[in-house]
Amino acid sequence: MKIIVLNGSPKGDLSVTMQYVAYIQKRFPQHELKIINISERIKRIEKDEPTFQGIMDEVRMSDAVLWAFPLYLLLVPSQYKRFIELIWERGATDVFKEKYAAVLTTSIHFFDHTANDYMRAICDDLEMRFVGAFPAHMRDLMEKEGRQKLFLFASTFFEDVEKNAPAPKIFKPMTYGNLDYVSSPVEDKIDAQDKKVVIVTDCEDIQTNLGQMIKRFKDSFSTPVEVINIAEMNIKGHCLGCLHCGFEYLCRYEGKDDFNEVFRTKVQTADVIVFAGMIVDRYLSSTWQMFFCRSFFYNHTPSVVGKQVGLIISGPLSQTTTLRQAIEGWVQFQQSNLVDFVSDQYEDSVTLNLLLTDLARRLISFSEKGYIRPRNFLGVGGMKIFRDEIYGGLRGIFQADHRYYKKQGFYDFPQKNYKKRFMADIMTLFTKIPPIRKEFPRRIKKGMIKPYQKYLKG
Ligand SMILES: Cc1cc2nc3c(=O)[nH]c(=O)nc-3n(C[C@H](O)[C@H](O)[C@H](O)COP(=O)(O)O)c2cc1C
Repeated sequence: MKIIVLNGSPKGDLSVTMQYVAYIQKRFPQHELKIINISERIKRIEKDEPTFQGIMDEVRMSDAVLWAFPLYLLLVPSQYKRFIELIWERGATDVFKEKYAAVLTTSIHFFDHTANDYMRAICDDLEMRFVGAFPAHMRDLMEKEGRQKLFLFASTFFEDVEKNAPAPKIFKPMTYGNLDYVSSPVEDKIDAQDKKVVIVTDCEDIQTNLGQMIKRFKDSFSTPVEVINIAEMNIKGHCLGCLHCGFEYLCRYEGKDDFNEVFRTKVQTADVIVFAGMIVDRYLSSTWQMFFCRSFFYNHTPSVVGKQVGLIISGPLSQTTTLRQAIEGWVQFQQSNLVDFVSDQYEDSVTLNLLLTDLARRLISFSEKGYIRPRNFLGVGGMKIFRDEIYGGLRGIFQADHRYYKKQGFYDFPQKNYKKRFMADIMTLFTKIPPIRKEFPRRIKKGMIKPYQKYLKG
């Protein structure tokens, strides 16, 4: 059997993910796993049509496709996202139709569920026969259990292909609304006072719904709003995953293009940030993903802390939980506040006008009050992963993160909280005494609310 492995790592052959592929190849020498480096060669694939067509020919002649990539910023690397966009732009979706597909990711499990969901949706959109995903931790291959699981994943993948197994689909095709939005002038404009409002967008056409939504939002203010257009910005290239930034937050592209400077001087200094973009396939565009990946020069350190963030989206937002979760996760990791999403999924322009202006009002109001709502599972869980990873295996590479985490008290390991541990031990001891144990269910409810009472008096 011939499997085409589409390698999403910008590091090409020196990729951790490809070590997993190499292991599968070693254990299954009867099958050919042909690796094609996608992200590493994206510029060539984009510019040179025969190179792209060569890849399509390989896919056409294969029995199955293995989408193998590292997690980058809660999704796929922006180069890989660009390749996926090219499949549609160049009318090559038929090449993938009915092909068996599986997904292999390596990461530290920070939002690997969003990346896996994204890729599965893409497989469904391409009408592929998706038969499995393997969301590995980047160090799993070094453990016996990890290798066993990888072996089983590969063997079931090959078996499914050989047996011509049926494959369920879980994502329906996206359906787009037909609102032709035209913004109208705003009467009661908002005074942002000393709050700096910045819109970051990749919108290239003011006449589109997105362009008109940005216009309405901007017009909602009587005070200046800065627009940063990442599609027009001097950005030399995608994040290469070189980790040059790990020691001092200094990117390899520093001084060679405008990204890092603009990020520091315009994005980081804003009080209110609005991201405005169009849904392209199942997420924002690859230009947007490049923006997020390039912001990784701050590694795992929150770099836009305490901001109010709003999202203006053109496209079927309600049909992509992946996008909403990834953005929410990113904002919570940044210790900022996601105020809301506004999309053009409405029947009429009047409703959208109101929502956009009200988003402006809420962003300023929250900013004035300094309101950051509590993080949920996405932010709390995500931060615990980073805490453990930076303290543990990744500290040597991400030294700047380590210094920041130490200074900010991020290393809040529960085992260091001696008072809590002591109290838990005492309770465990007491509940071993039969009469206390018997009374326990009757007293637990009262006992649990007792510590709150002092805050409720008066
Ligand atoms: C720019 C960048 C962004 C990353 N983003 C994530 C992420 O969002 N979630 C995660 O769990 N790991 C993330 N990682 C870690 C990589 O996914 C992980 O190290 C992976 O194994 C690298 O594989 P590769 O060597 O094949 O490129 C990121 C790494 C880099 C360099």
